Amino acid sequence: MTAKSLEETRNTALFAWYADQKRDLPWRGEADPYCILVSEVMLQQTQAARVVPFYERFITAFPAAGDLASAELQDVLDAWSGLGYNSRALRLREAARIVQRDGWPTTPETLEELPGVGPYTAAAIASFAFGAQVPAIDTNLRRVLSRWHGESLQGTALTVAAGTALGEPASDWNQAMMDLGATRCTPKTPQCGICPVQDWCAGPAAYVPPSAQGRFEGSSRQLRGAIVRALVRSPSRLEDIAQQTGFPVVEVEAALSDLSSEGLILAGSAGAYRIAD
Ligand code: ADE
Repeated sequence: MTAKSLEETRNTALFAWYADQKRDLPWRGEADPYCILVSEVMLQQTQAARVVPFYERFITAFPAAGDLASAELQDVLDAWSGLGYNSRALRLREAARIVQRDGWPTTPETLEELPGVGPYTAAAIASFAFGAQVPAIDTNLRRVLSRWHGESLQGTALTVAAGTALGEPASDWNQAMMDLGATRCTPKTPQCGICPVQDWCAGPAAYVPPSAQGRFEGSSRQLRGAIVRALVRSPSRLEDIAQQTGFPVVEVEAALSDLSSEGLILAGSAGAYRIAD
């Protein structure tokens, strides 16, 4: 019998912990690529526990890619309402239209060609829906792997570390690492005392969490969200939107221009803005 590698031993402990303690999330064990795509796009900027009710509401409103592909943008944004980053919903409908027309891409490289799907989301979908043996590398995985290695990993070093650490099947390993990052190996106060893989980890000292989102980005995001919510209720003019949202006209004007060029809203003939079709 050959000795087990450190990676195998660590993954055995990780998988045992995951089998016992995994979070009960509605997209777990889901095989339908459409449901996985919806969940992963929602999870791009929002924590899992908060995503759950939005995911359930959205899947009820649009149970299959064909339903989303043919939906009015107004209805899609209505179902998305409260999650923020509304342009994600527009891109998700675009992705649904593409898979309706061309069928599902099944590899990370081809999934990445869908709108709104970056390398992390493509790898997650490929592993969960199509059984690809690939790691889904995001900031959480980077943090956990950096702590295992005792150095802040990025670029090729991060890719190599993820490939070496990856357990089989990747679908379970990716989900287990997400849970580890969310519940034990958290950015600021890691729970090393109750971590299932603490024996094979260099500890949290080497990794410094990146600073939080800037204030400007936060307030411009708030304004964009407020504009979309106002326009889902009814088409409105610039000045009315400024009044309703409480933001200065110049800022509202800039946000309207961005939302228009992203295809989320349209400027109507009477100066009223509305949600695009
Ligand atoms: N974050 C991103 N994808 C996730 C998933 N599938 N489960 C939990 N958290 C996630």
